[in-house]
Amino acid sequence: MCGIVGYVGQKNCREFVLEGLSRLEYRGYDSAGFVCIDQNNKHLSFAKEVGPVNRLKEALEKVDYDGTIGIGHTRWASHGPAEKKNAHPQFDCQKTLAVVHNGIIEGHNAIRKRLLQEGHWFDSITDTEVAAHLLGEAIAFHKSLKAAIASVLTQLKGAYALVYLIEKEPERLLLIRHKSPLVVGVGDSEMFVGSDPIVFIDRTNKVFFMPDDSYAIVSSNHIEAYDFQHNPIVPQIKIHDHLLEISNKQEYEHFMIKEIYEQKRAIENSILFFKKLNGQLIDYKSDDVIVPAYVTNNNKDLEGFWGQIGLDISHVKNLKNLDIIAAGTSWHAAYIGSYFFEGIANIPTTVQLASEHRYSKFFKKDNQLVLTISQSGETADTLESMRLVQKNDIPVVCITNVAASTMMREADGFLLMQAGVERSVASTKSFSTQIASLYWLAHRIAVEKGILSLQAMKEAEEQLSLVSEILECSIENYKWEIMEKDAPFYSTFERFIFLGRHISYPFALEAALKLKEISYIFAHGYPAGELKHGPIALVDEKTPVVIFSVLNDLIYEKLLSNAQEVKARKGHLVVFAFEGQDELISLAGRCFVFPRVAPLLAPLAMTGVMQFWIYQITKFLNRPIDMPRNLAKSVTIE
Ligand code: AGP
Repeated sequence: MCGIVGYVGQKNCREFVLEGLSRLEYRGYDSAGFVCIDQNNKHLSFAKEVGPVNRLKEALEKVDYDGTIGIGHTRWASHGPAEKKNAHPQFDCQKTLAVVHNGIIEGHNAIRKRLLQEGHWFDSITDTEVAAHLLGEAIAFHKSLKAAIASVLTQLKGAYALVYLIEKEPERLLLIRHKSPLVVGVGDSEMFVGSDPIVFIDRTNKVFFMPDDSYAIVSSNHIEAYDFQHNPIVPQIKIHDHLLEISNKQEYEHFMIKEIYEQKRAIENSILFFKKLNGQLIDYKSDDVIVPAYVTNNNKDLEGFWGQIGLDISHVKNLKNLDIIAAGTSWHAAYIGSYFFEGIANIPTTVQLASEHRYSKFFKKDNQLVLTISQSGETADTLESMRLVQKNDIPVVCITNVAASTMMREADGFLLMQAGVERSVASTKSFSTQIASLYWLAHRIAVEKGILSLQAMKEAEEQLSLVSEILECSIENYKWEIMEKDAPFYSTFERFIFLGRHISYPFALEAALKLKEISYIFAHGYPAGELKHGPIALVDEKTPVVIFSVLNDLIYEKLLSNAQEVKARKGHLVVFAFEGQDELISLAGRCFVFPRVAPLLAPLAMTGVMQFWIYQITKFLNRPIDMPRNLAKSVTIE
């Protein structure tokens, strides 16, 4: 979490740094700060504000300092509450050295204790501040900046991307990268620094992705880089032809509702894109879907569709075990996807939470493939799990929405979704696009393994198109009722239970996550069959129970029994059902009915209405929908 921006060059940097921070707000918005070497007095001048970057912008409108070297930060609070004193930049005792940080410095308390004993004093309770004092102390002691860095590196543990601005070094920024990302954009006598190339991609397409465990001393014309053993690194400058996708809200009140409405297009564009990679003849034109130049397979000499995504075709043909690793909403999509790989491609599939997987015993399996799923491609737990798998020589394909994200660059292969920038913290269009992508991929693998015909693959693509249409139309069907009746009514409840069975169980988990993260209403997602083993004790007239149906007769009957159990205890039932499921519908206090679709796509059909319903309940409560408290879009720490 946390976003870093930096600049060194010939121009004033303030505007660039502030714009970059706005683009990085997805990494946290608890506070923001800016510091530069003031061109007038040659000293560090800074500002910090609690809250989103706009507050910092407003504060800086009242002052006029600027300079040709500066850094900025947007924070997701980990050590110390969101207060001005804990905002970055943090400083050394003399306030002549500033640092911004993304990550967590482990063991910082012990370092702080030692520094306090030596006479240092601290302004904040952040882990970051020790990194400022350590370098300040090392610079006073060592002759060269490089030697000072070497001494700091022996003391820092954890995960950190650090950028230092030092008053005595008015033409050089110091960058250190360990686990957290840091990139440098190479301009014409200017260098841009960011946690993500999105910060500078409209100014330069020449990018140096700092390797893990490296540091760099960056001036306007030069990058001097070293690994952690202090061996020089020749910076690999890559051409990153990625168009800057700046999403704005247009006529919508929130990004979340805009993104809910973008789902049909996100799914269609992604499938079209996969079809192009697959060499399928595209029978209609879409200007949105251009296979970008950066879609290469990590320089492997492989051919065809599997080659394009970085896999050897023989590996796919012989695939016997699939494991999917993800976090949050992506994990819910992965869970739904596991039914596709087992049901369509006949491959035993496990789904693992990245945060658990990385600390569990690892078992290698025969002919194994691991998929990681991540909208951002930056989630720390998923990334570390992926690295763990790769260390065991098992290929990893990542499904992501962000081109050139760390995961995409490090994976053996990747399937790049085309959902477009997702700004709201609550994942919506990335969830539905992940489901669609997994459905498509399961069919593609099944074709390769000789289980399915090309005709069946074509039909699957048609089903996806139809269901994306249903997803959108159903929102229109229920729109006014939800806005006028449901939102005021359901926003009065303090807790909800969401139930599903089989493929609708992970969907229930997703609905519960969505409700709690944006509305702050407590929501419990549970497998319906487990209700009687405990949670049924919670059922009363004050706790709506939301049941998501399936299109499988046997499981439908079981769900029906669970609904009756709730009804018998005077529970208020909200039902998401399909046409013809009259018995279930008749039990409901509130019901949404959807056209019947291919059974495994039942969750996708219900997705739009589920998200819209939760959005409207939350809107009625007047919550900050796109930036819920305590959250960040990209979770880059453990
Ligand atoms: C859900 O709405 C959240 N945005 C969150 O659970 C998210 O899915 C999770 O943090 C994983 O993110 P990723 O897909 O970028 O890896």
